[in-house]
Order: sequence, then C-alpha cells, then structure tokens
Amino acid sequence: MSDFVRICSQGELPAAGTVREVTVAGRALCVANVDGKISVLDGTCPHEGGPLGEGSIEGGKVVCPWHAYAFDVHTGANDEDPDVNAVVIEATVEDGELRGKL
Ligand code: FES
Repeated sequence: MSDFVRICSQGELPAAGTVREVTVAGRALCVANVDGKISVLDGTCPHEGGPLGEGSIEGGKVVCPWHAYAFDVHTGANDEDPDVNAVVIEATVEDGELRGKL
C-alpha cells in the first residue's frame, strides 16, 4: 500500500452527513462521510469545476454547491448527466489516518 498517501488524520474527518475539502499536494479532494462511512472524491466537480468539498450530503450522495448535481460516492455517477462523473479515489482509514490512492 505504499502508493496510498496521507490525506488527513482520523480526527480531521468530517462528521457524519457532511463533507470537507482537503488539499493534498495541490489537489483539492472532497472527503465525504455518509452514515459514518468515509469516501473520497476529487474535489473539483466534473460539471463546471465547483468545489465538491464545500458541498453537502443528501440522500447518501455528495451534492455540488454550484448546480446541485448529486454524485454517488462509490461510482461518481449523477442523475443529471450520465456523461459527467466525479472521480472516486480509493481510500482507507487505518492507523489513525485517511489515506488515498491519488
Ligand atoms: S459545477 Fe458542480 S454541479 Fe455544476
């Protein structure tokens, strides 16, 4: 797992039902907590570049603050446009840290 890099500490994870933006190596990431389960998406919305990490969680999906596209945290898909998918980043929480395969 050497290609997984540290995103943040476990104590910095967003509370259940919220998202948080974390920047790693200059790349904005959206860390989402859906019912206690952490997921990571690229923080730049694939629609028009909105900040997904400043969005919200609704119906188990990350909602972009700009035009309210709702992205599945597992597939990156949304219901508005099948050609616009968020980038889902493989991530794990272990040893007190969130790590992702960036
Ligand atoms: S920029 Fe995110 S929905 Fe438009």
